[in-house]
Amino acid sequence: MASQITVADIGGIEPGSTLSTEIARCWMDVANAGGAVGFPFTPVAMPVVQEAVQALATDIDLGRRTVIAARMGEELVGWVSVRFNDSALTAHWAKIERLQSHPTRRGEGIGTALLSHAVEHAASLGLEHLVLAVRGGEHLEPFYERHGWHEVGRHVGALRFADNDDRDEVLMKITLRSEQPARQRHELRGFRVGVRWRRFKTKWTRPSRNRYQAGFGCHRLDNADRGLLVQ
Ligand SMILES: CC(C)(COP(=O)(O)OP(=O)(O)OC[C@H]1O[C@@H](n2cnc3c(N)ncnc32)[C@H](O)[C@@H]1OP(=O)(O)O)[C@@H](O)C(=O)NCCC(=O)NCCS
Repeated sequence: MASQITVADIGGIEPGSTLSTEIARCWMDVANAGGAVGFPFTPVAMPVVQEAVQALATDIDLGRRTVIAARMGEELVGWVSVRFNDSALTAHWAKIERLQSHPTRRGEGIGTALLSHAVEHAASLGLEHLVLAVRGGEHLEPFYERHGWHEVGRHVGALRFADNDDRDEVLMKITLRSEQPARQRHELRGFRVGVRWRRFKTKWTRPSRNRYQAGFGCHRLDNADRGLLVQ
């Protein structure tokens, strides 16, 4: 029987730890198999990838990034990163980076599980949308479109892998909040009015559930989200 996929935020990466090696090994194997994961010129060697893993670890420690790993049994079979923006101007969205499943484990649902978890994680933090950059010519766009993402921009010929091998960089986006934010704000105003009204009546009715789209289903808007929306 095939092992189940478990997906979890890894918290941190200690230098020299087993986890650090597992992440680096997967990253190197994916890059050297031609994956679009930040090492465009291959082959890439383990020390170079380990250095990049340390940069990830620093970002996690500084709260700039979450790394989510997928395992089947004990084996690390893939990972993905959510990179938060540093500026207050863009703090309401984040980037998905380095989505990867090990080349020996493709088509088993790992990529989907990681992407789904990353989207839910971002939504739970109150982020409003996510973006990611796709290397053109890899037929990756349909994969993301099937999961609720859509193309919002295309830099034609941005990436030059070799003479006569220019590729587009495709920007894709998923919205984590309702497509109708104005309606939500209206409902939330209703919520506040309801609270005031409660002072005069002994009983009041909670507003209907406010929900937002997270690509893979609906999630209840929690109090933190309400606070963010009504600011
Ligand atoms: C993209 C990736 C993460 C998908 O992982 P996965 O574990 O195979 O994903 P799943 O099993 O959940 O889904 C696989 C589906 O995506 C499709 N797919 C994924 N990558 C594809 C590609 N390059 N070309 C064609 N189809 C692709 C598969 O055909 C499959 O379709 P199906 O569900 O209709 O059978 C994996 O192919 C990968 O690691 N690629 C290399 C790294 C990379 O390019 N990452 C993208 C960064 S933007």
